[in-house]
Amino acid sequence: MTVFDAKSIAIVGASREGNKVGHKILKNLISSYSGSIYPINPNASEILGIACYPNVKDIPNSVDMAVIAVPSKIVPSVLEDCGVKNVKTAVIISSGFKETGIEGAKLEKQCINIAKKYNMQIVGPNCFGVIDTDSGINTTFASQSPLKGNIGFMSQSGALCAAILDWASTEKVGFSKFISLGNKADLSENDFLQILYDDPNTKVILIYIEGLKDGQGFIKLTRRITKEKPVVVLKAGRTESGARAVASHTGTLAGSDNAYDAIFKQSGIIRVDSSEELFDYAMAFSYQPLPKGNRVAIITNAGGPGIIATDACEKKGLRLASFKRKTIDSLKENLPSAANIYNPVDVLGDATHERFASTLESLMNDSNVDSVLVLLTPQAMTDPIAVANTIAEISSKYKKPVLCSFMGGSAVVPGIDVLKENNIPNYSYPERAASSLMSMVIQKRITEQEYPNPKIFDVDKETVKKIFSSARSENRVNLGLEALDVLKAYGIPISKSIIVSNPKDAAKAADEIGYPVALKVVSPDILHKSDIGAVITNVKRDNIIKSYNQIINKTLKFMPKARILGVLVQEMVPDGVEIILGSTKDPQIGHLVMFGLGGIYVEILKDVSFGLAPLNEKIAESMISNIKAYSLLKGVRGEKPYDIDSISDSLLRVSQLVTDFPEIVEIDINPLKVFEKGKRCKAIDVRMILEVKK
Ligand code: COA
Repeated sequence: MTVFDAKSIAIVGASREGNKVGHKILKNLISSYSGSIYPINPNASEILGIACYPNVKDIPNSVDMAVIAVPSKIVPSVLEDCGVKNVKTAVIISSGFKETGIEGAKLEKQCINIAKKYNMQIVGPNCFGVIDTDSGINTTFASQSPLKGNIGFMSQSGALCAAILDWASTEKVGFSKFISLGNKADLSENDFLQILYDDPNTKVILIYIEGLKDGQGFIKLTRRITKEKPVVVLKAGRTESGARAVASHTGTLAGSDNAYDAIFKQSGIIRVDSSEELFDYAMAFSYQPLPKGNRVAIITNAGGPGIIATDACEKKGLRLASFKRKTIDSLKENLPSAANIYNPVDVLGDATHERFASTLESLMNDSNVDSVLVLLTPQAMTDPIAVANTIAEISSKYKKPVLCSFMGGSAVVPGIDVLKENNIPNYSYPERAASSLMSMVIQKRITEQEYPNPKIFDVDKETVKKIFSSARSENRVNLGLEALDVLKAYGIPISKSIIVSNPKDAAKAADEIGYPVALKVVSPDILHKSDIGAVITNVKRDNIIKSYNQIINKTLKFMPKARILGVLVQEMVPDGVEIILGSTKDPQIGHLVMFGLGGIYVEILKDVSFGLAPLNEKIAESMISNIKAYSLLKGVRGEKPYDIDSISDSLLRVSQLVTDFPEIVEIDINPLKVFEKGKRCKAIDVRMILEVKK
């Protein structure tokens, strides 16, 4: 049974006073719900003409849902009563829980435990309630009830719910279901996503969230949903600095907002930046069919707006359609000679609704046109109402989206009203119409998108297990040189490296690796080794002893207090491009994998991209091609291209590593040197940190 199947509802805290929350909820419910309603108030015998009970347990019949609007301290005891009464769902409106601090969190936990004990589901607490325009359930204390429509909306902010209901009633926008998630103590976005997906009355799903309760579950669910219904998300917190107290590049750059971006991209979610955009797109999805492709035709009665619309469309990724011969002939025949019959079609300032009609009809019939954008400015000969009626009539005959931008104020309002009545989305400016149209094109692509399974490599898990348990046995979570062996076990090429503690062993190690070699001091206290002369490259056999001693002496001279763990003898890796590749774990979401070009690209330009593990080949490829410096990898000015396939391969292997070993909280391969195409790559240095076990 879902929240919206309730056949009987009790309102606990149904107040006698008209301005109290419990009273308003009761009033809303009475006005729209035909199931049984039971007000609960120990101090009243009857409210708004309905018999009142002192306790849910006193109701003689069964109760499916309880809406709780009493002060938070008494919510647990009310819930206990609901449990005894076998109530299936409790919508807790009361605030004073987790959002207020430790005491509130304890109270919330108490509620969760009671609900578990009785197998009862909770919406909220600290929520605005839920609305189903089909069944008439309205457990909110909103002053307006929404119209019926096909938009399913859920929000983590109750205040936003109230504002949106108010706006929607002015704009005559309808909803199928309207859900305030509150603190998500039990039911969360994933539960309601499933409900909205299954709901035949919902065509588009809108979500405002601040965080996800279960990122992986969300991806799984939305990958399925978005192939059939658009899911548009407004996620707060985009501007978060992302500067967390971690030492690696990956950790610093991977603010949680990047994680959300990755989730949304990988699951077909359309992300917006503002409430305005959220509803702009919703109107398009709610009212119009999806276009087949991105070829748009523009009709305008004014030159300037036509140019603005053209620019906006192209900037967003739409293409101006080139018309078929037949269309051009018909436009020529029906429009004055001064009109522009090519895209954007300018029907001129004196255009009547007949001129709009013949033009729209021709464009709707052209198979080179996937969608039409109609612009109108209020000119003397233009009758916005007649034009709107014409658009409504013609567009209803075709399965092609038509979006409008009737620009202006009071002169165009009557025309806009006609458009609204006929489900034609109108935008005050062409730019907003272009964005909305592009979101429809994106959604069309999402419906065709495949999510291949991740490639699974044959790897040496046992070696990694041994390395990790040996580090743990020494109480270490920071891996040293052994992290390179972890990469090697997962098939990522590494540079040959050996740590030694005397010059003789350095020579032996270099003999083994092959000359020339690089020597580097190994010390946890020195970040920039080359600055103090503790790195020497291109060391040949005849100066290995001297170089070793030189490194130790420089370190002792410039950083006398630094701990010296040894000297690293490393193979000299040929020239290549340096990239950084890593992974960091977000406790709510999982492992983010990061990729970027090293040096200034990552440090100054922050030109990096993210994906959420497990990655598949498609995601890895798009992570690589999404960075701004991608063209450098492909080879510029006659340079040979770098081995991009080996980057993709490394990304997938890192993804498999963190998926197999979720205890890894951070990996930073910096740098991974990538050579020219066919010559693969090599990890030079890596940091790896394991979770501290509690
Ligand atoms: N069972 C049922 N009703 C009870 C009760 C019980 N055990 N104990 C008291 N009541 C009655 C009260 O007598 C009162 O009715 P009355 O006005 O007729 O006397 C009614 O329940 C409400 O109780 P009251 O103590 O007056 O609370 P309130 O209405 O001032 O506030 C909340 C209750 C839930 C609204 C308030 O605590 C709260 O949380 N407000 C914030 C809500 C919010 O913002 N939520 C998030 C939205 S996004």
